[in-house]
Amino acid sequence: MIGKILLAVTIFTAGCSYQQNTADIIKSSFDKAAIQYSKLFDELPDTLFPRSIYSDGSLWTNESGWWTSGFFPGSLWYLYEYGSDDRIKNLALQKTMVLDLEKYNYSDHDIGFKIFCSYGNALRLTTDSSFTPVIIDAAYTLMKRYKPDVGCFRSWDDISDSTEYLVIVDNMMNLELLFWAFKQTGDSVLFKSAVSHADKTMQNHYRRDGSCYHVLSYNQQNGGVKQKKTAQGYSDESSWTRGQAWGLYGFTMAYRETGLKRYLDHSQKIALFFLNHPRLPIDKIPYWDFDSPDIPDTYRDASAAAITASALIELAQYSNDSLKSFYLDNAEIIITVLSSPDYRTSIDENFNFLLKHGVGHLPANSEVDVPLSYADYYYLEAMSRLLKFLK
Ligand code: GLY
Repeated sequence: MIGKILLAVTIFTAGCSYQQNTADIIKSSFDKAAIQYSKLFDELPDTLFPRSIYSDGSLWTNESGWWTSGFFPGSLWYLYEYGSDDRIKNLALQKTMVLDLEKYNYSDHDIGFKIFCSYGNALRLTTDSSFTPVIIDAAYTLMKRYKPDVGCFRSWDDISDSTEYLVIVDNMMNLELLFWAFKQTGDSVLFKSAVSHADKTMQNHYRRDGSCYHVLSYNQQNGGVKQKKTAQGYSDESSWTRGQAWGLYGFTMAYRETGLKRYLDHSQKIALFFLNHPRLPIDKIPYWDFDSPDIPDTYRDASAAAITASALIELAQYSNDSLKSFYLDNAEIIITVLSSPDYRTSIDENFNFLLKHGVGHLPANSEVDVPLSYADYYYLEAMSRLLKFLK
């Protein structure tokens, strides 16, 4: 269990100088991460990606089809953006190319994570247009999972019951691929489908207090809601923390891509639920589920913290001055705490993953209190975003 961390509080009493401290903390973390991720790359066979660490302490890798495969190349792209090191760029390119075959994989909704974190960042940072067709192909692959009668993309296929049409809040993240492809192609079907999915998610996944369910089961014929439940949370009615983070990030991105104010209002409501939650610890690193009955004697989830920090920094840009400060202050605390030795690894620790203490799927006793490649990705993204604010 992680002890209470007072570092952030100390930093936030230091007034103006803390901004410089935070910039220094971020730069030092990026410099160390470049060394660590080069070493982690060397551990990997050509076609595999780092996923986590097994309970016996060995490295857990995955092939390109697993939902997390885009995060390692994506992280390498963030490291390249920070340091402009061509050696890191070459590593990022190598792992990005392995994902080419995923552009036609329509077995789940995660193609957005896989292709946009890898190829999307490759295109953003190199402007090499040879990456464009892969991302467009991937967007049309994702479209195969859209059913107009439901108005949502199907997240998972339930192999035991083909009538189930399951949509998870995480799916909001994959809409970015569609919004991007709409801008490239002008095909309004991509845009309208993504907006429909976001609207239905806002309407059906969310509770009045700004929290959300994890999984919804829809009627395939008329789009009615059959069931609201969880897969990775504590209970059907609980607020699984990473789900809250995916929603915050997803609706903030949807506002950026559409300009629709209802998404901005909704993002701000989610942010308030998260940041004002009485069970959010003072260091702002949340427990894995806001409603776990074992709080405070249960696990924190560094991945949810990192995703939230990154989302808050973007949301700050669209918000009034007082909300902007509130979001940035919270994001800065999260990044500072994640960068402390309680969460941030040293060189050669944990196979050189960057963050400790993530929770993947606690009810299945899988990936509990471990490094996670997506925690690292959103941590790097959050630091990159905050650094631009502090400059
Ligand atoms: N999208 C899967 C997860 O957040 O664990």
